[in-house]
Amino acid sequence: VAPLKVGIAGLGTVGAEVVRLIETQARVLAGRSGRGIRVVAVTARSKAKKRSIDLRGVEWVKDPMVLATHPEVDCFVELMGGAGDPALSAVEAALNGGKSVVTANKALLAKHGLKLAKAAEKHGGALNFEAAVGAAIPVIKTLREGLAGTGINRVYGILNGTCNYILTRMEQEGLSFAECLKDAQRLGYAEANPSFDVDGHDTAQKLAILASLAFGTKVAQSAVYVEGISSIAPEDLRAADDLGYRLKLLGVAVRTAKGIEQRVHPTMVPKSSSIAQVMGVTNAVTIDGEGIPPITLVGPGAGGAATASAVVADIADVARGIRANPFGRPISHLRDTKKAPMERH
Ligand code: HSE
Repeated sequence: VAPLKVGIAGLGTVGAEVVRLIETQARVLAGRSGRGIRVVAVTARSKAKKRSIDLRGVEWVKDPMVLATHPEVDCFVELMGGAGDPALSAVEAALNGGKSVVTANKALLAKHGLKLAKAAEKHGGALNFEAAVGAAIPVIKTLREGLAGTGINRVYGILNGTCNYILTRMEQEGLSFAECLKDAQRLGYAEANPSFDVDGHDTAQKLAILASLAFGTKVAQSAVYVEGISSIAPEDLRAADDLGYRLKLLGVAVRTAKGIEQRVHPTMVPKSSSIAQVMGVTNAVTIDGEGIPPITLVGPGAGGAATASAVVADIADVARGIRANPFGRPISHLRDTKKAPMERH
């Protein structure tokens, strides 16, 4: 069988790690996918930047659009980020050309996921985005495939590694918010614009994607109530601690009598609860399914290696010829997202 030919747009921490993994894991990946995977072309903002990856024999393309429509590319991997262009046009062009797309771009999916899923459905390519939520944690596959036969009542968790890292260090070391954020940026966890992390928008985007998969609604970030952690001070964490609680930024999507409620805000959780034990850059997602006890997935939620792990798994699915409905159902089966009135919990 001919190898799957991959084009990668974006060679930051994640993109470079994807290139490295495809090379170092080549035998394992070929075994699991039944065919080889080859990076044939790449694009990034700066060609001159020093990277510790070997790009010999890989074509360098200047424009993401050219890569997305490149006749040699079967699978377009979008790791540029951002809800608008160039990511949006490039992903659309790749899907409209019948290519499969793998992306880690939660902002793009939360805003344009429906439109992109329509293009994938119409032209037959896959649209895979395991890395967009919870990085290495296979939460998309769990909701879409693992729990395909189970009704879901609630999905909630810690979905932003940067915020959990900041809250953990503030609590444990008494450091200031600003110091912790700087470290999260240095470690490559934070978004290019870290207000997406600390103001809760990144969590909202991920929650909107999970809610769509869990409840069969159209993905819509605008339906999420959002409150971030930027005004939290070490004293707030100490006060919570005195009362036997810890502060966590949670994303919660729950089925109510009035519709699907989606919300993101700092939450006091009892120190004895399992979610309170989730520290540092770790993410955790709990899924309450009908008729079964809750399932919790815990793991690394940000960083180059953790994100690349999920991207490469998605590429392996494309190589294998697996093509899931991006949001778990045909587009015509997705219901409108009604913003449920917030209830006090
Ligand atoms: N900035 C994100 C986070 C990266 O901290 O969780 C992973 O999506």
